[in-house]
Amino acid sequence: MLDNQSSLPEPSLSEPPVALITGAAQRIGACIARSLHQQGYDLLIHYRQSATEAHALADELNRIRPHSCRYLQADLTDMNEVEHLCGEVIELGRLDLLINNASSFYPTPVEQVTQAAWNDLINSNLRAAFFISTRLSQLITVRKGAIINLVDIHAQRGLKGYPIYSIAKAGLLMMTQSLAKELAPAVRVNGISPGPILWPEAEAALSPEQQQEVVSKTLLQRCGTPQDIADAVLFLSSASYITGQILNVDGGKSLFS
Ligand SMILES: NC(=O)c1ccc[n+]([C@@H]2O[C@H](COP(=O)([O-])OP(=O)(O)OC[C@H]3O[C@@H](n4cnc5c(N)ncnc54)[C@H](OP(=O)(O)O)[C@@H]3O)[C@@H](O)[C@H]2O)c1
Repeated sequence: MLDNQSSLPEPSLSEPPVALITGAAQRIGACIARSLHQQGYDLLIHYRQSATEAHALADELNRIRPHSCRYLQADLTDMNEVEHLCGEVIELGRLDLLINNASSFYPTPVEQVTQAAWNDLINSNLRAAFFISTRLSQLITVRKGAIINLVDIHAQRGLKGYPIYSIAKAGLLMMTQSLAKELAPAVRVNGISPGPILWPEAEAALSPEQQQEVVSKTLLQRCGTPQDIADAVLFLSSASYITGQILNVDGGKSLFS
């Protein structure tokens, strides 16, 4: 039983597997949530600001399968909130799959860069993923579960104008490989590096010409879809002999010369 109306459930190994997805209220995270739920996972949907969307998604999934979903709120740049989030999951007593999806993304031109932007981008993309993974690793170990990190193809070839974001995602790539070693053999840790899937909004929005320029540098000459990423999550969640790997889901953009 995982809805927000019920009291905390007694852990039972006969119950469905449980996945925590950070930043899951909308966009790629929500698509991953729906796909895992369809595969029989109970869900912990984490969100920061998108309360309306997170509550609606949990309601939608609880209508499909009662008590299969609950939401958890936390600003992942705040370590107290990270600890509180992990405490709530530990209290629930079961975790099979952790998807580190939450991310902030905006340009940081070097001539105007601030320490606040460094803290925000590094802490949301990297520090939170590391501490959530390590704090919850014992719980995942019990279930011989998995961690999947949403990286970015720009972890390997930095995105011009976005040095801090690129540094954070490069750290997440190394975190994937390092934790694969640290948590083996019980827990598999893999990453997915999306190419262009959904265009960024607000501060990082691109003009139609800039979008076309990005698409023209994919071998497949098109954007991917959130479902392409969710399908990769489903694959890695059950790929029992794969750990420490990064799967590029990018239409061949990382090969484009
Ligand atoms: N979209 C793409 O084409 C693309 C390309 C390459 C890589 N990726 C990676 O794939 C993942 C999903 O992409 P996306 O575009 O769907 O992500 P997104 O919409 O940019 O962000 C996902 C969620 O992250 C949460 N978030 C941001 N800062 C946070 C913080 N300080 N604390 C807690 N949550 C925070 C937000 O939650 P709230 O809304 O609740 O505040 C947001 O809804 C990300 O890791 C991204 O870097 C995406």
